[in-house]
Amino acid sequence: MEFSIKSSAPENLSADCVAIGVFAGEKKQPLLTDMGKALDQAANGAIQAILGKGDFSGKSGSCQFLYKLPGIACERILLFGLGKTSEASNAAFSRAIRAAVKAIAATSAAEAVIALNAASDLPAKIRLATMAAADELAGKTLQKEKNIALKKLAFWRFVDGRAKHDAGAEEKALYEGEAIAAGLKTARTLGDLPANQCTPSYLAKAAEKLAKRHKLNCEILDEKAIRAAGMNALLAVARGSRQPPRFIVLEYKGKPRGGKKSAAQPLALLGKGITFDSGGISLKPPANMDEMKFDMCGAASVLGVMEAVARLQLPLNLLALIPACENMPGGDATRPGDVIATLSGQTVEILNTDAEGRLILCDALTYARRFEPSAIIDVATLTGACAMALGRIAHGLFANDDALAAALIKAGETIEDKAWRLPLWDDYQEALDSRFADMVNTGGREGGAITAACFLSRFVDKKTPWAHLDIAGTAWRTGKEKGATGRPVALLCQYLLDLADKPL
Ligand code: BES
Ligand code: MN
Ligand code: ZN
Repeated sequence: MEFSIKSSAPENLSADCVAIGVFAGEKKQPLLTDMGKALDQAANGAIQAILGKGDFSGKSGSCQFLYKLPGIACERILLFGLGKTSEASNAAFSRAIRAAVKAIAATSAAEAVIALNAASDLPAKIRLATMAAADELAGKTLQKEKNIALKKLAFWRFVDGRAKHDAGAEEKALYEGEAIAAGLKTARTLGDLPANQCTPSYLAKAAEKLAKRHKLNCEILDEKAIRAAGMNALLAVARGSRQPPRFIVLEYKGKPRGGKKSAAQPLALLGKGITFDSGGISLKPPANMDEMKFDMCGAASVLGVMEAVARLQLPLNLLALIPACENMPGGDATRPGDVIATLSGQTVEILNTDAEGRLILCDALTYARRFEPSAIIDVATLTGACAMALGRIAHGLFANDDALAAALIKAGETIEDKAWRLPLWDDYQEALDSRFADMVNTGGREGGAITAACFLSRFVDKKTPWAHLDIAGTAWRTGKEKGATGRPVALLCQYLLDLADKPL
């Protein structure tokens, strides 16, 4: 797909389809945007006349094609609903763009133009629209339709001399949207692979390939190296499987601005890479167990972010750490009640072998210390409890640092990949008390997402800003649309874009 930005006069728009947004009016009557009005003028009021018939409400996500309007060269006009102006949000905008792209892709149009209202912050809108459009086109819903005619998509913004615009910022936003979409695609593709293909070694090879393509440093620790490093919690999870574990280290060096040491410290991204989670000896029930192939979506999203950041050549240093293994109930598997010594030296009584994500992540968190990261963000399909609490809309967010939490929440809202903060209060820590070790690996069902985050917090140095994203509800869709979403690649990319933009 080729994306571009156009600013021709409405009557000169040459494309197979021009899509214009329509707001749902507060009093029933739908409202054309400025772009729509300009087009309507060229069509001598034909669009308004059609809207006057009341067939199209402007509801967010709704679409209506019009054909061969007088005075307009383009043979298809697509009206796409933006929802009520009073309810305008990035969520409604993103939904509208996705619906429009889906409708266009179902036609034989090869070149399309989508009008963007220049009302406010056009670059941000362009970034969001490009990402949403590219993601929609590459997404599952359309994957079966291999022959999508659509090849070129342009965003049309109105320049009538009065409207101010920054062409450089707009082109940059377009490029950013494309890079984020590429990262999303990497994450989704890896996430969707079955566990017999996407093994820990496969993930490691995928990381190596990514590193080669984008000139990143890559180090893969095999089982022997993992043992030598002392990552016993990772080994405890891996031992029930025939598949050997891997520990992936990827480094992106992006020439941070300023010569200070603090500017060069990498931001560490950790991703849970359980290629299949059977639960181990604490075996999961059979229903929907196939979905546990998605238990490496944290790892996949971290790889997706590395890809996007490398494409964008952001001026910052980034480190990806991915513990990868399979949680199986083999004859050598860890048993409930086993006690292990983690890399940190703290001991853990493993009460439930299905609470394995926190085990592989705790060693990764300890390992991260040797890189002296400026901050750590881990991403994990960690708890069913998080999916219960927040559903499939927001990621669960936990942090030991308010500024980091706020920046992540803001980024998620900007790019429509939302996170919601849950507490990390010490009151929850006592659920992890053990009679036989420093802690147990599960605090029980109640507050499960929080006690899991509390477990992780014990492996983070208090001075390092740390955030944990529990993506158990958001990493994949279930039911008919089953498949990886690629989330939270967009949130993390937006956060890093914001970070790279911050004045020193
Ligand atoms: N990978 C699962 C979490 C999960 C479950 C994600 C369902 C998405 C849907 C994780 O390893 C797990 O099994 N967690 C347990 C923890 C419990 C044993 C304390 C859970 O959530 O049930
Ligand atoms: Mn599990
Ligand atoms: Zn798991």
